[in-house]
Amino acid sequence: MNHWAADDGTITEALLGTPAGDGTTHLAPLGFRRSGAHVVLAPFHPSRTLDHLREHGVASISHTDDVRVFAGCLSGRRDWPLAACEHIACARLRDAVSHHELRVLRIDDSDAQRPRFVCEELLVCGHRPWTGFNRAQAAVLEACILVSRLHMLPLPQVREQFDALRIAIDKTSGSREREAWQWLLARLQAFEAAQAAGEASR
Ligand SMILES: Cc1cc2nc3c(=O)[nH]c(=O)nc-3n(C[C@H](O)[C@H](O)[C@H](O)COP(=O)(O)O)c2cc1C
Repeated sequence: MNHWAADDGTITEALLGTPAGDGTTHLAPLGFRRSGAHVVLAPFHPSRTLDHLREHGVASISHTDDVRVFAGCLSGRRDWPLAACEHIACARLRDAVSHHELRVLRIDDSDAQRPRFVCEELLVCGHRPWTGFNRAQAAVLEACILVSRLHMLPLPQVREQFDALRIAIDKTSGSREREAWQWLLARLQAFEAAQAAGEASR
């Protein structure tokens, strides 16, 4: 049992690396939680992450304070520097603050839309100090969630929440958070334009 990690339903957002089968590693933002000594991953069907986990049974979790990696994965910028894991045939973020290496122990398929992968941790490794909370980073993460659900949420609600998150960006961001925000804003604007064009042609 890791005493530094809560086993109380807390969901931690991170970058999950899974082997793509061609020697490369697929990176995707994913939330995970703990259950006793284990880590539980719950990727939606269909997704590459789910297919890779089923096929290869290993994954890396990378924690980063560079929110551009989260925003990048949602805006076609997946090419981040990676490093090989120690115990599994998979890579992790090279510049991670810390990372975990996981092996899938069992798969709970009772929810066909969202199977649960229960994993053991083969390694948890810190690489450099975590530098503390930043509101703009939290705002970028929230905006990432909104962008990942553009097809599911009412567009005016997404725009309203973006405008609210912008306050933290304006007050507390550094250059990395500003860049990530611009990528996400561009995605939202492109989606809004496509929706407006679709409505105009109806
Ligand atoms: C912060 C954050 C957390 C996410 N957590 C999950 C998750 O727990 N399960 C999931 O299926 N998708 C989650 N997503 C969405 C996936 O990152 C996204 O759907 C991804 O592209 C997975 O599809 P892929 O494996 O085909 O790339 C999350 C997105 C963000 C931004």
